[in-house]
Amino acid sequence: MTTIQVTTAAKSYAVTIEAGLLARVGTALAQVWTPCQVAVITDTNVGPLYAQQVRDRLIAAGFRVTVLTVPAGESSKSWPQVMRLIDALSAAHLTRSDGVLALGGGVVGDLAGFVAAIYLRGIAFAQVPTSLLAQVDSSVGGKTAIDLPTGKNLVGSFYQPDVVLIDPHTLTTLPPRMLVEGYGEIVKCAALVGGDFWALVQQVTQPAAILAQAAPLIHQSIAFKARVVMADEKEGGQRQLLNFGHTLGHAVELWGHGRYMHGEAVAIGLVQVARLFAAQGMMPAALADQLRDRLTAVGLPVALPADLTVTALLAAMQHDKKIHGQALTWVYLTAIGQPAMHAVPLTDLATWIAPVTGPLQP
Ligand SMILES: NC(=O)c1ccc[n+]([C@@H]2O[C@H](COP(=O)([O-])OP(=O)(O)OC[C@H]3O[C@@H](n4cnc5c(N)ncnc54)[C@H](O)[C@@H]3O)[C@@H](O)[C@H]2O)c1
Repeated sequence: MTTIQVTTAAKSYAVTIEAGLLARVGTALAQVWTPCQVAVITDTNVGPLYAQQVRDRLIAAGFRVTVLTVPAGESSKSWPQVMRLIDALSAAHLTRSDGVLALGGGVVGDLAGFVAAIYLRGIAFAQVPTSLLAQVDSSVGGKTAIDLPTGKNLVGSFYQPDVVLIDPHTLTTLPPRMLVEGYGEIVKCAALVGGDFWALVQQVTQPAAILAQAAPLIHQSIAFKARVVMADEKEGGQRQLLNFGHTLGHAVELWGHGRYMHGEAVAIGLVQVARLFAAQGMMPAALADQLRDRLTAVGLPVALPADLTVTALLAAMQHDKKIHGQALTWVYLTAIGQPAMHAVPLTDLATWIAPVTGPLQP
């Protein structure tokens, strides 16, 4: 078992990582919450696998439990689901002394966190993340959100959980593509941190190694995210480093309309941004190859899709939230573990990305 303490202006909370933790989720939660009513929010994939066990353990520890299930998938990060859940909390008479527990991936965490943030102006919130992406990233940091038809994560709040309980065993039921996708974010963090973390990802030479090394990989990722969040809770400066690979990656993801999962698009973004900065003489070319090797070892894509056009890529990049004052800020590395930032005026963007978009149609 390892524990990382996250301390923000709003709250200090523990993130516990332990194989088999679900079997003692009740006693673990009882260390931070006094017995109360808990609404376990889960989805139609995770619920059938783990909700009964979580419910039984919570009841054994003295909690009263209501399980609420939303359809699996991004479309549940919506106003209709928020309203349905809030109505259910109210119907179950949850009070300010009660709590919401998110049991699932990043979708459930973002949705349940938002519901906890606004119901009765905010009730207690706990995270039990079950996807790799949620275990290494979305469960820590306090960002909650739902989507609008006009874009992802457009409504939400910063709302930190009281505790994050991570059981890497839950990853054994995660579909392989989702496991690998979550690993894309881990490689990003390891490259930003360097040292032992980068040495650890060298050991992942095939997809099965992600599961074998899950606990230390999660620990290193969370420790890094916690440091960044503690330094910069609301994304003013340091937190921007987490956008490494996301400028191109997010544009590819948007353009693909579901063809690429987020971590797959980030993998493409990481290697392409490294090639871009290498071409500008700002990053050693060998770094792009190192990143490529780590990502392709588990089967992640790294090439820009051949049917992507430069026009479509530039159009997708116009939606980037990192555009400030008519310039787009890119994160790059001067060495493994040495991140830096560079702002490019929007008017220069087409020329700036030309070294990697050369083979694409205009
Ligand atoms: N809040 C943040 O800081 C933050 C950061 C990154 C991403 N996100 C959000 O996270 C979401 C993506 O998260 P995700 O990739 O976990 O997606 P997800 O929640 O949709 O989970 C992926 C799929 O795996 C299933 N699943 C999850 N755990 C499982 C398990 N143990 N066994 C079997 N199936 C399981 C889910 O039902 C779903 O079908 C996006 O909405 C994104 O915006 C939030």
